[in-house]
Amino acid sequence: MKNNYHFVAISGSLRKGSFNTMALLAAQMLAPKNITIEHLSIADVPLFNYDLHAEHTPDAVEKLNDAVKSADALIIFTPEYNYSIPGVLKNVLDFMSKSPKQPLSMKAVGIISASPSLLGGIRAQYHLRQVLVAVNAVSMNIPEVVITQANTKFDEAGNLTDEKTKEFISTFLTSLSVFSDVLKK
Ligand code: FNR
Repeated sequence: MKNNYHFVAISGSLRKGSFNTMALLAAQMLAPKNITIEHLSIADVPLFNYDLHAEHTPDAVEKLNDAVKSADALIIFTPEYNYSIPGVLKNVLDFMSKSPKQPLSMKAVGIISASPSLLGGIRAQYHLRQVLVAVNAVSMNIPEVVITQANTKFDEAGNLTDEKTKEFISTFLTSLSVFSDVLKK
């Protein structure tokens, strides 16, 4: 087991009041002392166009590739859009899949979703797992963190207030560190 872990995290929502980004910030605060979580913004990633990007990788994507490649694990916080993952998130994964660096290959990935709905974005989680198979990433099966009725679990300032969800995220982070160790063996 390592002493310290460096995780990177992506939110699949670009909007300011995003529950998924709030959950990401909560995870940063809940992380045990031996785990750091770096928030990687995907806001500057252009739309993937193989004509333009086969030869030239945009700087914003190269930064993501390098950060993910060197991290112990990646956490993806995904909204659910129309029973799947948002296009902006799929766009980033498509970019990464074409990188010769193959940042996602054999990468430990943890998934968290947040939605105001009663299902909490679980359908998007399963679509995301399918995409991760294609890029040879290895997603942690359990524990799952599904933040249902997310509109009731954060305060006006965006702080996570639901104690059970805090516990779930803490357990998830420790489990992901163990999972990343197992993958490296
Ligand atoms: C949604 N939303 C949604 N929610 C859900 O649980 N299942 C779904 O299929 C959808 N579909 C959907 C499509 C589109 C285009 C939008 C904009 C929204 C609602 C969604 O969960 C809600 O807007 C969340 O707040 C989005 O996540 P962030 O932005 O808060 O992180």
